[in-house]
Amino acid sequence: MSVTNAPKELFKPLQLPLRILTGPGPSNCSQRVLDALKQQVLGHLHPEILQLMDDIKAGLRYAFQTVNRLTLAVSASAHVAMEAAIGNVLERDEKLLVVKAGLWGERAADMAQRIGIHVDFFHVEPGVAFKLEDFEEAVKRHRPAAVFVAHSESSTCLVQPVEGLGEICHKYDALLIVDTVASLGAEPFFADAWGVDVVYTGSQKVLGAPPGITPMSFSPLAEKKIRSRKTPVHSFNWDMTWLGRYWNCFEAENGPRPYHHTISATLVYGLREALALLAEEGLEASWARHHAVKAKFHEALAKRGYGFYVEQPRHRLATVSSILLPAGVDAPSLIAFAKDRYNVEISGGLGPTAGKVVRIGLMGVNATPGHVDLVLRALEEGVKHVKDRTISSA
Ligand code: GLV
Repeated sequence: MSVTNAPKELFKPLQLPLRILTGPGPSNCSQRVLDALKQQVLGHLHPEILQLMDDIKAGLRYAFQTVNRLTLAVSASAHVAMEAAIGNVLERDEKLLVVKAGLWGERAADMAQRIGIHVDFFHVEPGVAFKLEDFEEAVKRHRPAAVFVAHSESSTCLVQPVEGLGEICHKYDALLIVDTVASLGAEPFFADAWGVDVVYTGSQKVLGAPPGITPMSFSPLAEKKIRSRKTPVHSFNWDMTWLGRYWNCFEAENGPRPYHHTISATLVYGLREALALLAEEGLEASWARHHAVKAKFHEALAKRGYGFYVEQPRHRLATVSSILLPAGVDAPSLIAFAKDRYNVEISGGLGPTAGKVVRIGLMGVNATPGHVDLVLRALEEGVKHVKDRTISSA
């Protein structure tokens, strides 16, 4: 038997652009994170890696503002954390109430239904924060075992206030699951004080690590629910009793850290350094920096006559902005112009905002006044270019 030829494309040197990632994520990594990613791989049970995992747990407890012992990172994207959040605390035929405010609620519902969980929706107007009394009414009517809410609905660029939701959920014996993928580190968030039972975030947004290692945290109530399951978690890979033991979360009950999977040492280095940077800057300083950048960006946009999908300024996410497309400007042409002329990423709408907006993200190392000026220039020139082209081809 003869071996087929080696693929020619693999003989070309690896060449990548240095793109400025100002879409909804991933965001650029800091130089310190990039330096960490260059280090040699270590084994998944080597003491140095286990120590870094402990550092990460401490950093995540700080970032989430929690003392939850079951705090760790899953070896996968934030989509998997969404699935793991739902699939660990709920079993087949239990009820999940999903706040449907944009794409993330739809994704959560899809994932839950695939594992046999019954989904009810609390329909809210996309881009508008819902009120506590309407939320309570929905929880009272549906009596779910858990509720899913996106703190940062990055498809519309709304930040949904979470304070008060935990209390309502607990009053009706439901757990509260919150997606903070595009907000943690930029928007104030207090997992314990707000009664959040399961929370996850993206490593690749404000934190500025690569995607593929996703922070999560489970409250004692969520842990109790997991421990009282009648059936095993649908996926071995995302089973928190296994992962919690690997991450040494269970104190005296933990026992030796088992071999569960081969964690990416490289991603552990990256996330550890990203969290070290957050700790050095300080959470409040990071919140303030992101809010100051948003204020500068939004003021400049308003001055130039741009509109926002989220009308209420206080409910506009600090990290990603959904800017209404000016008449006669199509998103793909604008996005292509920004990439080709400025090497700047601008993204289109998603879910309810598809075709209506462009989304620009200024987070992590890209949350600076200089980046505001850069994306404004790319946007302004891009809009002019697309309009001029439309006129000349008419
Ligand atoms: C991804 O997180 C997005 O909002 O596009």
